[in-house]
Amino acid sequence: MEAEDWKGLATNYEGNILSVYDNDQNGEIESIIKELGIKKERAVDLGCGTGKFLPLLSNHFKSVQAFDYSTEMINAAKRSHKHLKNLSLSVCDLRTSSPKIKPSDMALCINVVLSPSISDREKIWRNVRKSIRTGGFLVLVTPSLESALYSKHRLVEWNIRNGDTSVQALTEGFDTKDKDGKMISRGGIINYGGVPTKHYLEEELICLAHRFGFKITSTEKITYPWSTEFSSPPKWMKSPLPWDWLILLEKKNLRTR
Ligand SMILES: C[S@@+](CC[C@H](N)C(=O)[O-])C[C@H]1O[C@@H](n2cnc3c(N)ncnc32)[C@H](O)[C@@H]1O
Repeated sequence: MEAEDWKGLATNYEGNILSVYDNDQNGEIESIIKELGIKKERAVDLGCGTGKFLPLLSNHFKSVQAFDYSTEMINAAKRSHKHLKNLSLSVCDLRTSSPKIKPSDMALCINVVLSPSISDREKIWRNVRKSIRTGGFLVLVTPSLESALYSKHRLVEWNIRNGDTSVQALTEGFDTKDKDGKMISRGGIINYGGVPTKHYLEEELICLAHRFGFKITSTEKITYPWSTEFSSPPKWMKSPLPWDWLILLEKKNLRTR
């Protein structure tokens, strides 16, 4: 997606985008922010959207920068968070070579590195690294490829329980346009609401973190109700629930890692 594509979504954010903030039922991100905020100076929200996490960041850090490449998202965030005096909001494409981001004690990057283009993702990763001071932390949330594949299996199960033949159950459960499975197996790209979206394996995130000079402090699942995957999921469809990866990383000096 490009900045323009997020335009319409900013006006009906609730209906269009899975809000990690609203669905983090156990408050895992909130606890991390509170813990890291103690005596810390500066936080940055990279790809802030309409700014759901900004009040929390503003409460726990002395100053907060927030960036998004969609002007509409930034305008929506400005309207909602006028009262936050320690917050600065700017339009910025995280793929540009030298964005004006002051290195922070903590960066939040929640479901932002989703582009199917490897080269775009590499550019964003480099800027994510630059936006954190050495010893600072990155709170990263990404879609899980394991969860996306598992959800498709639950859909196949649903079809079988409804009396579909096994062939029907499979073809209706999986993306038949991606016949050779190239998108999924090569790139971890899965259509989410019709948009090709990068999904990550846990081990892939470990390798990425290492390559960009981060040490992984913790890896957790943020689980969501089935209604985030399917409209009207059946009552029998319970745990294990679908999830995103929530990873806390510490920036290391590249030479000493
Ligand atoms: C799924 S939304 C998540 C928003 C927010 N982090 C949250 O959790 O509520 C993804 C956001 O990333 C922004 N984004 C995607 N690619 C970007 C880029 N290259 N530079 C800046 N923002 C980007 C989009 O405009 C969108 O607001």
